[in-house]
Amino acid sequence: MSPTGNIVILTGAGISAESGLQTFRAADGLWEGHRVEDVATPEAFARDPELVHQFYDARRARLGEVEPNAAHLALARLDAEWRGKLLIVTQNVDDLHERAGAERLLHMHGELKRGWCLACDGRFEWDGAMSPYSVCPEPVEGLPLSKREEGQSFDTLRTNGCNRCPSCDAAGTVRPDIVWFGEMPYDMEAIEAALFHADLFVSIGTSGAVYPAAGFVQTAKHRGARTMEINLEPSQGSNFFDERRYGRASELVPAWVEELLSGRA
Ligand code: OAD
Repeated sequence: MSPTGNIVILTGAGISAESGLQTFRAADGLWEGHRVEDVATPEAFARDPELVHQFYDARRARLGEVEPNAAHLALARLDAEWRGKLLIVTQNVDDLHERAGAERLLHMHGELKRGWCLACDGRFEWDGAMSPYSVCPEPVEGLPLSKREEGQSFDTLRTNGCNRCPSCDAAGTVRPDIVWFGEMPYDMEAIEAALFHADLFVSIGTSGAVYPAAGFVQTAKHRGARTMEINLEPSQGSNFFDERRYGRASELVPAWVEELLSGRA
């Protein structure tokens, strides 16, 4: 690999597993406890916004309890030291890549710590709960703390609760800035451009079950890139990879980065 070659790295939930975040498709994964169509579609949000908010509020709160692991840190090191073009495309909505220090990074499935106002179309950083039923950091005067027990309707709460748009001040119109099933992933043009010019495509910690990300390996391979998979087990698209390394990301990713930066890969 030329020291100025173009690298595209795709990451999935497996890279954050050893930080303590659940993956989706494991026996104890997020999709075992929830039906995708109940919490990860625009229709679910229209039908039961409170259930959807609760799901993402819990996941956002969990981010405060976890830290980047050795795999995130190794990719941040590669980002800092690699002289060629490099792009980390993550399907993850956690913030562990950026907390590790990665900068050349795109979140194709959105981010837990961002909100999207359906009234003004604004997108902005968001910390804390988004559900109108949750206790606001600065409780609105006169609003009881255990709002749900009070039996107030979602519509009443959305005018009083902490779900308020920082751009247009509308109440109850902010949704998680997450790409749900049936919606278009972010930054596809930039990702495709990077895949077209990649010399090396590496997929880390993803089952290869969800498109378009699952198809990136074929695009990169078709355009002449060498392809490599690092995962706990063969992914659904494992046959498309020229090289496969199976084991824990926290061990395999630092070892691979070291090889690459020392010119051994
Ligand atoms: P999955 O849960 O489908 O797959 C995680 C993969 O990581 C599996 O193949 C595991 O074997 C592997 N894995 C687990 N622990 C690992 C470790 N310590 N080291 C290395 N690999 C490990 O998660 P994703 O492929 O990321 O989309 O799922 C893709 C998309 O499906 C998600 O972004 C999400 C989900 O529905 C949306 O919500 C839009």
